[in-house]
Amino acid sequence: MSLCPQTITCRAAIAWAANSTLSIEEVQVEPPKAGEVRIKLASTGICGTDDHAIKGLLSAIFPFIPGHEGAGIVESIGKGVTSVKPGDKVLTLIIPQCRECSSCLHPKGNFCEKQDVLPSSGLMLDGTSRFTCKGKKIYHSFRTSTFTEYTVVPEIAVAKIDDAAPMDKVSLISCEVPTGYGAAVHSAKVTHGSTCVVFGLGGIGSAIVMGCKASGASRIIGVDINEEKFPRARALGVTDCLNPQKFKKPVQQVVMEMTGVGADFAFEAIGLSDTMLAAWDSCHRSYGVCLIVGVAPLNSKLSLDAPMIVSGRTMKGVCLGDYKTRDCIHHLVTDYLQNKINIDPLVTHQLPFDQLHKAFELYHAGKTIRCILLF
Ligand code: APR
Ligand code: ZN
Repeated sequence: MSLCPQTITCRAAIAWAANSTLSIEEVQVEPPKAGEVRIKLASTGICGTDDHAIKGLLSAIFPFIPGHEGAGIVESIGKGVTSVKPGDKVLTLIIPQCRECSSCLHPKGNFCEKQDVLPSSGLMLDGTSRFTCKGKKIYHSFRTSTFTEYTVVPEIAVAKIDDAAPMDKVSLISCEVPTGYGAAVHSAKVTHGSTCVVFGLGGIGSAIVMGCKASGASRIIGVDINEEKFPRARALGVTDCLNPQKFKKPVQQVVMEMTGVGADFAFEAIGLSDTMLAAWDSCHRSYGVCLIVGVAPLNSKLSLDAPMIVSGRTMKGVCLGDYKTRDCIHHLVTDYLQNKINIDPLVTHQLPFDQLHKAFELYHAGKTIRCILLF
């Protein structure tokens, strides 16, 4: 344990400009300030949100170090940090839990006001950055930045996890598992015997399918334009796979015809307003519940048929499964260790960090559910 932490020089991926290829650079990572934690990453997943940020579709500020789905070991702590100590195994949290803001104090809220996703400052809570490269300031992404050997994160965005956690996999429990599985089991509370439709069968959609299945849904319709996703989706519990490009009519009409009345629960895990509308229109018009899990591009809008809103359907946005992150997410790790949930089918690829470009090629080619980068 270092009592006086120094700046660390290590490798990190930098997005220099929107849509540019990430480059692995030598960066300087400053010691954690008060209320901050410096983490040595063990693994990080590549999530759709990171891809959106790198493409400039979210409000990320360039140049920045992407990544948020991380698992690592606390290297050093700043003044006043009490919830973790050097050597602890931890997950990074894209949505922190400050336990002081209106969201955190409300029994149901989890979208902590100290989050840095929507909008994004790219800076720590004190308005400064901990990263430099070649003398230039580098911004954080979502106050997590996990595509780096070392990162600095606010204590409120760190979850201490079980010492027995396998660090090459549990990074998925930092985001994908609570976001997808949690949306179904905790937020929607999918009911036994229900019909669900899941738009997008990537990492998040697959975790949603797992949650629907675990909740006893009797029919799970999966929608994706990439049919390569179908065999794995079926193995996870999808009963009917639909490629919307194969139909002359809108996919929501196909879902309506298949179900007769519409789905009990619809989930959007793509991040496009068109598929959000399709999910909404796939629900039973009276009691259907539509959960928006995907993050749409900045400034995009959703236009609903206003008169029909009165029919009773619910639309609900959900982030990290509505879990209060620091209170709840470590329980999912324990559930995994106790074989109550199995995240292994979600991990399709594991590559060393320096093969980041290959990992993104596989992701863009639609070959991965989750690719985990290992440090
Ligand atoms: N219609 C149907 N499926 C689509 C469409 C479309 N128009 N566009 C993309 N897809 C499918 C892709 O083929 C892919 O299988 O959506 C899936 C998206 O999965 P990933 O790229 O693996 O992304 P994921 O990490 O699952 O994130 C999905 O959730 O957290 C949010 O910001 C994230 O908006 C993103 C969404
Ligand atoms: Zn808060």
